[in-house]
Amino acid sequence: MKILITGGAGFIGSHVVRHFVKTYPKYHIYNLDALTYAGNLENLKDIESSLNYTFLKTDIRDNNQIISLFQEYKFDRVIHLAAESHVDRSISNPLAFVATNVTGTINLMQAALNIWKNLDEHLFYHVSTDEVYGSLGINGYFTEESPYKPNSPYSASKASSDHFVRAYGETYGLPFLISNCSNNYGPNQFPEKLIPLFINNILENKTLPVYGDGANVRDWLYVLDHVSAIDTIFHKGKTQETYLIGGNNELTNLQLIKSLCELMDKKLGRPEGSSEKLIAFVKDRPGHDHRYAIDANKLKYELGWIPKATFNLGLEETIDWYLANKTWLANVTSGAYREYYTELYENR
Ligand code: NAD
Ligand code: TYD
Repeated sequence: MKILITGGAGFIGSHVVRHFVKTYPKYHIYNLDALTYAGNLENLKDIESSLNYTFLKTDIRDNNQIISLFQEYKFDRVIHLAAESHVDRSISNPLAFVATNVTGTINLMQAALNIWKNLDEHLFYHVSTDEVYGSLGINGYFTEESPYKPNSPYSASKASSDHFVRAYGETYGLPFLISNCSNNYGPNQFPEKLIPLFINNILENKTLPVYGDGANVRDWLYVLDHVSAIDTIFHKGKTQETYLIGGNNELTNLQLIKSLCELMDKKLGRPEGSSEKLIAFVKDRPGHDHRYAIDANKLKYELGWIPKATFNLGLEETIDWYLANKTWLANVTSGAYREYYTELYENR
């Protein structure tokens, strides 16, 4: 089976690619990635010479290129993760999110339909986010039946791509799966998202900008649990269906940040309380969703998946990884990253 995985040089994608390359030697894994600021082949150094692995540097916005790649390699199945993924960037540049997340997704499905004749043999698996459902109050959970109500340009672009995938299923019979997952954390996450940004800032003795009052709630899932859910859904999921993936692990931002600060003080041998002193409450993110929480019972009872990692251990492993990979961190936080954050901090 020839599987095209898009966005495989990014955070979640690199863990998905490694897992499929190592676990399924009979599958050939094609990793298609444009290597934007968020893509990094360093993430895949350990598997780059595997016989069942090929990297294709391509932009999913480039329709002609995507069509010719499908014609050349005749991929059987697609796991689509390539995306612009950061809410804050979507606020300053929404059109980039439309181009990659919406148009890019359509380009892939169109190219697949061009070459897929017996549709039953194929699959287009779209990896999406719980943010498409908007924001919860203090009670309740998102389920597969929750109405779409995206609040940020990022979540609106992912909601739109979810709708296009479903529409291609209805209109053209494209066999698809969609999963909507909660916030991931773990090694290789680009230091613009909360956890790796704050690890990096603590290392550099910079302020930790908490948006608003820090009471927003996220349901944190260790990235390898997301990978195992994707594997389960890819192999056992019922096509034309959606599955929600969550960690059963709700925390307010402040709870999470305080645990992170405590652990960082211990790991760095700094006096207790030194990282917490870096916390600065800043202007809230516009349209900041208050709470995300997932009811993942469909995935549990229909496909038998549950998350394995406990948050404290997962967080410690994540911190250990960043401390052991300071060159990775230094490489990805040079150049354009510095310019982006200098501008951002100046505007706060
Ligand atoms: P990421 O930003 O770390 O990686 C995205 C990857 O896509 C990068 O390697 C980048 O180079 C590539 N890419 C971006 N634009 C491209 C283009 N035009 N053509 C080809 N490649 C392109 O993102 P992530 O956090 O790993 O997220 C992966 C997917 O999972 C996304 O679709 C995201 O919406 C979804 N998701 C993420 C989370 C999370 O917490 N990070 C949670 C749920 C769902
Ligand atoms: P983030 O990692 O950007 O993920 P998402 O917005 O997709 O949930 O942010 C997680 C939470 O942390 C979110 O409530 C916003 C908040 N946050 C801050 O308070 N400060 C920051 O610098 C960042 C990046 C996020």
